[in-house]
Amino acid sequence: MASVTSQRLTTLLGSWAGRGPAYTELAERLRLLALDGRLPDGTRLPAERDLARTLGLSRTTIAAAYARLRELGCLDSVRGSGSYIVLPAPPGVPAVDEAGILDLTKAAMPAASIVAECAGRAVASLGPELGRSGYEIVGLPRLRIAVAEHFARRSVPTDPDQIMITNGVQHAIALVVGLLVSSGDRAAVEQPTYPHAMDALLAAKARLVPLPVSPTGWDLDAAEAAFRASSPVLAYVMPDFHNPTGGSLDVAGRERLARLAARSGTLLLADETTALLDISRGPLPPLAAFSPSAVTLGGLAKLAWGGLRVGWIRAPRSTVGRLAQARTSHDLGTPVLEQLVAAELLEHEDVLVAERRARLGEGLRALITALTAYFPGWTVPAPNGGMAVWADCTPMSSSRLVMASRLHGVALTAGPRFGVNGAFEHRLRLPFTASPDELRSAVAALAAAAQDGSAGPSVAPLIAV
Ligand SMILES: Cc1ncc(COP(=O)(O)O)c(C=O)c1O
Repeated sequence: MASVTSQRLTTLLGSWAGRGPAYTELAERLRLLALDGRLPDGTRLPAERDLARTLGLSRTTIAAAYARLRELGCLDSVRGSGSYIVLPAPPGVPAVDEAGILDLTKAAMPAASIVAECAGRAVASLGPELGRSGYEIVGLPRLRIAVAEHFARRSVPTDPDQIMITNGVQHAIALVVGLLVSSGDRAAVEQPTYPHAMDALLAAKARLVPLPVSPTGWDLDAAEAAFRASSPVLAYVMPDFHNPTGGSLDVAGRERLARLAARSGTLLLADETTALLDISRGPLPPLAAFSPSAVTLGGLAKLAWGGLRVGWIRAPRSTVGRLAQARTSHDLGTPVLEQLVAAELLEHEDVLVAERRARLGEGLRALITALTAYFPGWTVPAPNGGMAVWADCTPMSSSRLVMASRLHGVALTAGPRFGVNGAFEHRLRLPFTASPDELRSAVAALAAAAQDGSAGPSVAPLIAV
């Protein structure tokens, strides 16, 4: 069972003290860490005495915080063995009625309008597949060709043999990380970054090397220093409409990043989940155009529908072969019907792009207008694409806002979930994927939460996509 040291926990806790008694504030912050996955289910917390020493608090305060967590159903203490995080809402037993909560923990939209129609055509074309085994470990030839054409349209000539179809991009991340990262390897990740990519790297016991990114861009001087100092085995990056900042790496930046990575023998793992969510930027060549060894991940979750669970990996042919071998211990391929739907959808990529552009543009405008009205003191850079704004909510604490906003019917993800070491306490990711009306109500609810500042009730675990 994993345990967390007092030092590591202190880093994760960040600046947790607030207006309430220390033990309740500490318990609330620990609860948030459990809910959003930074303290996974079953993690053993430090002994009360150790944590008291490291935090400079009395043992009574820690004991009271742990007791409060037990009361909230987030901690299980076993005499003589320690205290363990337990997820507060076991499957099927939700701690609160989640209906009526506007879920902005997921930057995700309902299915695009053509999904149902494409699914119908896919069912109609299923016949010949039914005469085959259905086990397609690297993917249906028809879809691999369609994905290769998707890259060729974006000026990266691609052979279908370079493509593996996966069950979404998260699956692709896990497969690539499982193949290429060994325990103790260094892996570079943008800071902030997509949390579940960090989860995959930490599960492989990688040591994370931060590459700073802000809404105004990538700090490539810092990246150069980090690559030189640690020669990471891979660097996981989102060059287009980065999640959560919404920024894009310009052409010169792509060239330089590719050069730096080549020099330090670092493989670039480019996540293009959000690459086509362009509101007003215009196309840029994929990172693979500058780095022949780059592995590129993409999928249809954001462009078409998350419920499809279809993604892909573009990699050198030899890597696709090794991935296919490694995959068999987990799963034996992506469902055929879903692959047919994906192939149909890719034939209408331009329709999907235009529909998402219109919806995201409306959402972005509504969100920025509401934030400017309710939170004039915040700095909210408006991205030219992607799914979320990365607001600077200084001096407010995003962890506190997230816990309080639950009481007001809005679920959000706290800034530190996107960072390596408890950073970004004054940053809040606000997706603009919901409808303009929902976004206006969400910001009004957030303003009410900021007023009362109290913490929400026990809730189900949060995933941040
Ligand atoms: C950057 C990024 N990568 C991967 C994923 C997961 O994608 P999928 O739903 O295809 O697994 C997400 C989902 O939000 C994402 O934002």
